[in-house]
Amino acid sequence: MRSNRIRLGVNLDHIAFIKKSRDTLYPSLADAVKITEDAGADLITIHLREDRRHIQDSDAFEVRDCAKTLNFEMANTMEMIEFALKLKPDFCCIVPEKREEKTTEGGLNLKKLNVSELDLFKNNIKKLAEAGIKTSLFIDPDIESVKLSKELGAEIVELHTGHYANKFNSIDEFEALESLSMASNTAHDLGLIVNAGHGLNIENLTQICEIPHIHELNIGHSIISQAVFIGLKDAIEKIISIIDNCD
Ligand code: PXP
Repeated sequence: MRSNRIRLGVNLDHIAFIKKSRDTLYPSLADAVKITEDAGADLITIHLREDRRHIQDSDAFEVRDCAKTLNFEMANTMEMIEFALKLKPDFCCIVPEKREEKTTEGGLNLKKLNVSELDLFKNNIKKLAEAGIKTSLFIDPDIESVKLSKELGAEIVELHTGHYANKFNSIDEFEALESLSMASNTAHDLGLIVNAGHGLNIENLTQICEIPHIHELNIGHSIISQAVFIGLKDAIEKIISIIDNCD
């Protein structure tokens, strides 16, 4: 295990997606966890969506049984909170979810929540904390969302890097990176751990690694896409070597 480096979480949803597409027993998620950990990744990330489009309930328990460290992404619903309390991941990352979206296209819109919705969030984070699960909130890189995350009792924020990924190599790239840096600095000053992820790949990763205080990156789609051609182990090792070279 690498220490004092930016940690890498590998999101295995797209492996579950292949399995689900034919309702087969393969590809094995337990095998994927083993290869991922052997390749040097620090944790496994899965997202159980309400529509079960990739990870299934049984997949989540299979992954929990073999993963050393599990980050469980989920919507802020009673169903998912109860599921998480049974699954007992190390971390829960609360994400917004819309059925019609292809992926998690933006961060949680905490600024739009009313008082009772904010209370519900707070209570759910507290329930998870009482069960020994640390909560991360997946937010867009803006200062107000960072401050609200702190007020809600989250210990971690995961900054959505999708906007940066879309603006990569355009004139707006610098501004997108600036927002990430400002959000990261604010979160760090407030005592929050700062993770980041979404849309990251071997081309656009270096700039994200240079943002101050980044503790962990969660990467899925690009790793599994590369794995189709070069295998999962090599795809993960390639990402880790980029992260290591940024130190
Ligand atoms: N982090 C969070 C919270 C996500 O929802 C996702 C997408 O499931 C990722 C990271 C990984 O994004 P990508 O698959 O684009 O690497």
